[in-house]
Amino acid sequence: TTTTIEASLKADKPGPEISRYVYGQFSEHLGLGVYDGIWVGENSSIPNTRGIRNDVVAALKAIKMPVVRWPGGCFADEYIWRDGIGERAKRPVRKNNWWGGTPEDNQFGTHEFMDFVEQVGSEAYFSVNVGSSNPTEMREWIEYLTSPGDDTLAKERRANGRDKPFKVPFIGIGNESWGCGGNMTPEYYANELRRFESFYHKGTDNPGVRVASGANSFDVNWTDVVMKNAARHMDAISLHYYTIPTGNWTTKGVATAFPTAEWNATFYQTMRMDDLLKKHIAVMDKHDPKKRIALYVDEWGTWYDVEKGTNPGHLYQQNTLRDGVLAAANFNIFHNYTDRVKMTNIAQTINVLQAMILTDKEKMALTPTYYAFKMYVPFQDSIPLPVEVTAPTLSAGKDKDGKDQTFPAFNVTAAKARDGKTYVGVANMDADKGYKINIDLGTLKAKKVSGDVLTAAKLDAHNVPGQKEAIFPVAYKGGKISGGKLTLDVPAKSVVVVAVE
Ligand code: AHR
Repeated sequence: TTTTIEASLKADKPGPEISRYVYGQFSEHLGLGVYDGIWVGENSSIPNTRGIRNDVVAALKAIKMPVVRWPGGCFADEYIWRDGIGERAKRPVRKNNWWGGTPEDNQFGTHEFMDFVEQVGSEAYFSVNVGSSNPTEMREWIEYLTSPGDDTLAKERRANGRDKPFKVPFIGIGNESWGCGGNMTPEYYANELRRFESFYHKGTDNPGVRVASGANSFDVNWTDVVMKNAARHMDAISLHYYTIPTGNWTTKGVATAFPTAEWNATFYQTMRMDDLLKKHIAVMDKHDPKKRIALYVDEWGTWYDVEKGTNPGHLYQQNTLRDGVLAAANFNIFHNYTDRVKMTNIAQTINVLQAMILTDKEKMALTPTYYAFKMYVPFQDSIPLPVEVTAPTLSAGKDKDGKDQTFPAFNVTAAKARDGKTYVGVANMDADKGYKINIDLGTLKAKKVSGDVLTAAKLDAHNVPGQKEAIFPVAYKGGKISGGKLTLDVPAKSVVVVAVE
């Protein structure tokens, strides 16, 4: 069944640019995320360039991965950067205490990471160790990376094969400092931030955006205290929010073969992102009314029970149509807060949580989430245009206090892209119903509509490395323009992105 909904696009009310970094990634030393996922080593039979998988680089180039956060996550607050430089055969093996106790042989370190970033044509976002380290370690790593001079650290970098300083535009000072990053109170972390930042030396050599370790989902007190006590010492503050279908960390819900009720529960949980951003932004507005400080949602995405038979510490999960629609629904939310939300990093790029890519030795699969990122590439660095629309409300049942858990059936975004075209994106979260959306184009004069749709017969359609693809975007035939209106026939459980010109 299809319901008709009226909407209007306000081309004369452009908002602040959608930064390309909103489409950022996060790659931690966790499970098969880096090892196997990115790094196979120079002697591998898997085609590689200096040890880095060619297939993965090509896939990430195709979604114009703008930035990647590394080396963690929780891993970052135990990482000793010196372990990952110099002759590979001599690098120490450490225990990855956070993620399954797996041996970390440090074959992928600073230079390999930067090689990966440069091969993809992306940018680096380092997360430095605050929880179990000190400001000297941070300062020396930054100097090693960025010093153009004749100092010993710059010489050491040159001796390790890199003459020119690396470009490091973003540096996170700690990760989840309220939890795995040191179990600090916000007052304590604010002091730590002030202390570490004193030795950060932001300037010509190190222009990196100083990212404060931010809150765990709805903990707005964290944002409040850290901003009140240390706003001067940051250029951005982070925020982490994971979508857990059941809302319960013990039994989170499965990645495939889930019932429709769990589809709805997932969308209820993910759409809370909207309220979450509002709440943190309200606190930021109080301390920083001029909006100098950005909000980076530098970990987000779905977190399910791990796949049967896999290491529980490796967070390996399948990725279905549900994840693809959910990614698009989150993009549509982020586009509404571009005055603050200047970066987001989905967790995580390859083989971990809501991944873009799954690998199995030499085989690789692109996930529905990957395809959502691909369809939204034109939104990178575009100018958002408001779309006024009221979607019907769906219910995911009641919470434990008897409150209705509702979410909109779909959300819509629009933007004027760099190529001069206007793009409209729709995430239809309704598992059963399609919608005919009539968008009044107002001052926008357009004649032609074309685009792609991502959908499938099954809620849990997914791709498996080495098997024929079950889900991928196809040409969209449901759009037409007439009488100044764009009509989109949006199928149930789908993502539609069209260009109008
Ligand atoms: O993404 C997995 C983990 O989730 C990260 O290491 C940590 O920051 C968060 O708790």
